Amino acid sequence: MKDFLTVTGLGREEFEGLIGRASANRDLLDSRSPIEPILKGLAVANLFFEPSTRTRLSFDLAAQRLGANVITFDPATSSTSKGETLRDTALTVQAIGADMMVVRHSTDGVPEQIASWTGLPVINAGDGMHEHPTQALLDAVTLNRRFGRLHGLRLGIVGDILHSRVAGSLIPALRTLGIEVIAVGPADWMPESETSHADALDDVLESLDAVYLLRVQTERGGTITKEFIANYQLNDQRAARLPEHAIVMHPGPMNRGVEISEEVADSARSLITEQVRNGVPARMAVFQTLAGQTG
Ligand code: CP
Repeated sequence: MKDFLTVTGLGREEFEGLIGRASANRDLLDSRSPIEPILKGLAVANLFFEPSTRTRLSFDLAAQRLGANVITFDPATSSTSKGETLRDTALTVQAIGADMMVVRHSTDGVPEQIASWTGLPVINAGDGMHEHPTQALLDAVTLNRRFGRLHGLRLGIVGDILHSRVAGSLIPALRTLGIEVIAVGPADWMPESETSHADALDDVLESLDAVYLLRVQTERGGTITKEFIANYQLNDQRAARLPEHAIVMHPGPMNRGVEISEEVADSARSLITEQVRNGVPARMAVFQTLAGQTG
């Protein structure tokens, strides 16, 4: 694997290998055990053209844990504001000494474009409404660590599916791993290609092992309405109808009081902080794979 741009084409065994490696990294980090610095002497460039808290910081720490030097690009203070093109920016960062790039951009396909311009290994940290593959990986790690398996689980992904790059990676990735995924949301926010979907959250709650809530992507065309909140917010009343073992997930950032209530976000069912914790080990696993480490 040279790049990590999409979950498309990633087979079940390859994905399970990444999950296993990420989980082993999590154990090492939790026990504060030494980690082989396989990126020592290499520079990782974080090119985030869109805001981020957890993805940027966890890529930053993951690269540092593996011994890399990290250079971080801030579009607000960069020469893009003086008219430099995206291609010239990417080639400039390469000339400065980047060996790998992590790219987030508001336009679909930019990470792939940068990979082709530079020839460097590139990781997609979220592109437009397309994909967010490392989010899917850390979510699969979270589910696997909680349930001890993935195959046969039933997960409802709820809300603004059409505009969500998280959904763009998570739905196909989890299906590859044998999870039954039901997309739940208003018809306007359901991709035409989605075959397993439900209009009403209330119809599926009792059958789910996990509920995965999505933020309404207002920056990409989604609109928060009272109707959405009334029909799709996971609140205490709805959470009470889930099976006792069922968990609640969210990629963050949450909009408390919109797709999720305060109480559910902070409840014992919520694995949202656990998802964030799995971000660093999952991203380390991707770096290790791209660096060609095996085993
Ligand atoms: N889940 C996620 O991508 O969060 P950030 O936008 O904070 O990176």
